[in-house]
Amino acid sequence: MAHIDEAEINHIRESSDIVEIVSSYIPLTQKGKNYFGVCPFHNDHAPSMSVSKEKGIFKCFSCGATGNVFKFVSDFENISFAEAVQKVAEKIGITLKSQITKPVVKKYQEEYQIMNFTSLYFQNNLMTERGKQAVAYLQKRAFDESVIKEFQIGLSLENNSLYELLKTKKYPNQKLADLGLISQKGLNYYDIFVNRIMFPIHDLHGETVGFTGRIYLDNSTPKYLNSKETYLFKKGNILFNYHRAKDAIRLEKKLILVEGNMDAIRMYASGIKNTMALMGTSLTTNQINEIKKLRVPILLMLDNDSAGNLATFQIGTLLEKEGLTVLVVRLSGEKDPDEYIVKNGIEAMQDNLKNAISFLEFKLAFYKQNKNLQDGEELASYIKEVLNSMKENPDPILKEITLKKLSDDYGISYSVLKEELEKLATPTISFDPPVMEEKKVRKTKWMDGINHILYFMMNDTKYLFMYKSKLGFLNDATYRGVANEILAYYELHKTINLADFLSYAENSKLKKEIYEIVESIKEENMDEQIMEEYIISVKKIMKEKEIKELKQKLKLELDSAKKMNIALRIQSLKKEV
Ligand code: UTP
Ligand code: MN
Repeated sequence: MAHIDEAEINHIRESSDIVEIVSSYIPLTQKGKNYFGVCPFHNDHAPSMSVSKEKGIFKCFSCGATGNVFKFVSDFENISFAEAVQKVAEKIGITLKSQITKPVVKKYQEEYQIMNFTSLYFQNNLMTERGKQAVAYLQKRAFDESVIKEFQIGLSLENNSLYELLKTKKYPNQKLADLGLISQKGLNYYDIFVNRIMFPIHDLHGETVGFTGRIYLDNSTPKYLNSKETYLFKKGNILFNYHRAKDAIRLEKKLILVEGNMDAIRMYASGIKNTMALMGTSLTTNQINEIKKLRVPILLMLDNDSAGNLATFQIGTLLEKEGLTVLVVRLSGEKDPDEYIVKNGIEAMQDNLKNAISFLEFKLAFYKQNKNLQDGEELASYIKEVLNSMKENPDPILKEITLKKLSDDYGISYSVLKEELEKLATPTISFDPPVMEEKKVRKTKWMDGINHILYFMMNDTKYLFMYKSKLGFLNDATYRGVANEILAYYELHKTINLADFLSYAENSKLKKEIYEIVESIKEENMDEQIMEEYIISVKKIMKEKEIKELKQKLKLELDSAKKMNIALRIQSLKKEV
């Protein structure tokens, strides 16, 4: 971010049309002055997002997502703010004066270089005389030359050949060991990967960060040897094939998740490019967050065994809890998607994908396993299990459908089911004493007032002047900090508007707080009269607070002259409120 000059950012923003840019991602329709679309940042059904050409701002009135054109692009594409600035500049044909480099690449430049070099070395090995058996193995598995090229498949050899080669390049041993390429035993170093078919693993940006190597000569274990966790390779942050699949995922509006890397390679190479692999059967919070950012339904197609079945249930539950739509394919006959396609062909696979079932349907079947639903008790425990699994689901429509289905399938009254679910879902209510309630109301009123005042100030200098002349101070360090940021922006630019102020906010320590304020504002109305009312209300609450504090002080004060002063101050404050 520091690389792009603020004036340049503002120039690009002014030269771009937010409506045009946003509609290159989502369809917008005009209603009056504003444009509306289905919000891509939450599970929206109605068009809740409005885009203002005039203000250069988008805002979702349902989830609160808001910001300028760069924020939209960076959130949508899952790229940094600076990268979004560059992207918008490209779209409107402006060449940036400042150069943007991916900071992460810079930091570990040599490490990435080593990984790339190693990958090329492995790839080359495969093409030599010594790679013949490995190529034959790949061919037997129906992975042809184009797949080998596309997935940069390679081969590791014996005799520490990688280490011997890297030594000639004078890379420090420690670095190579840290990268998980060699290991130290006594005074000597050894290659980690020996006689394995090598697959590079990329991070989300497409940088080579690790390897997974498969045996092919015998049946030794492990079948796959993976790079250890390094500062580049964090397995929990990575989804295999993410960087290749992400564009297809956006186009197809679906992400297919499979277990094995080989499954993802087979799917991708067969033209089903919107596929990523979990590299196993678990999913971390980081991976879920990356998946969420893609904002598409997820189709789970894990292995055709009991581990895959259980993982489908667990992962589907996690994803649904995050508000994502989950679909399921359970293959039959073959062990995994790779073998399925090899045996039955791509059309049979396409049919399976077309016939994917909802996660709900999967779940109902999953709970049914090994139960005899003719038996009243087993049926009751089945129903309870299903209801229990629903209580944390955020989607009310899905709940409704499930209850209806249970009611129809087993002839149980809908209202009884609903009542049961409500009982399960009711959170424990804590009763605040009435005084606390009042305090809370006052606190939210105060926050609401300040949020509005600060929001108004970000929008127009006239409100900024009103703040300076009529309020001037906020008795809360964070809010005061935000006010100071706004005033600092004004000092710098002698003008203010929300869209550019938000670009400025990217570098502020209070960025999060600034966005919280902007997101909290749900209505568009702004005028001096309303500002005035908020100022009066906030002032009053601040004074009441001060009175309270002074009263406390009065109690503790021993000096009678000082006591008198405090009392007088209280009196005058009381008059003011
Ligand atoms: P699978 O055993 O299902 O692999 O493991 P696969 O994709 O079918 O591989 P092939 O077809 O036999 O070549 C699924 C995933 O679990 C991890 C790998 O990430 C693999 O892609 N795994 C499996 C390991 O890390 N080590 C192993 O020894 C086995
Ligand atoms: Mn397999």
